[in-house]
Amino acid sequence: MFVLNGVNLGTLGTRRPEVYGTMTLDDIERFVSEAFPDVDLEFRQTDFEGEMVGYIREAADADGLIINAGAWTHYSYALHDALEAVDVPKVEVHISNVHRREGWRRESVISPAVHAVIAGMGAQGYVAAVGYVLESSSP
Ligand code: DQA
Repeated sequence: MFVLNGVNLGTLGTRRPEVYGTMTLDDIERFVSEAFPDVDLEFRQTDFEGEMVGYIREAADADGLIINAGAWTHYSYALHDALEAVDVPKVEVHISNVHRREGWRRESVISPAVHAVIAGMGAQGYVAAVGYVLESSSP
C-alpha cells in the first residue's frame, strides 16, 4: 500500500506547528508503521508534481493508495486525472481540517477521483486511511 505525501509535506515538524502539529513526516511514518506492523507500507514524498504522477501510476499494482497532496489538492487536475486512472482503493488525507481554514482550501479537485476523504485528524488520519484500504481490499 502506497502512502504518498506531496508538496511541502517534507517540512512537517517545523512548518506551522499550530496547524500541522510537531510530528515530522518520519515521525508520522513510524506512527503509522507501528499501528500496522504486518502491512507492507511504501511511504513516498515529493515536491515535484510529475514525480507524484509517477508514484500514483506505480500504485496501480498495489492494494491501495493514500495521498496527502498538500496544496496540489486545490488545483492539480493532473493529479486528479492520474488518480482517476488508477483502479485501487484511494483515500485523500489532510492533517489539518481544511474546512475551517482559508476558503480556497475547502475545494479539492482530487476528491472526485478518490473513494474517501479524511481531514483534521492529524497523524491519526493516515492510520484511519490504512484501515479503510485494508477493509476495502480484503476479499
Ligand atoms: C494539507 C492542507 C493543504 O491545504 C496544505 O496546502 C498542505 C497540507 C494538510 O495536510 O492539512 O500542504 O494537505
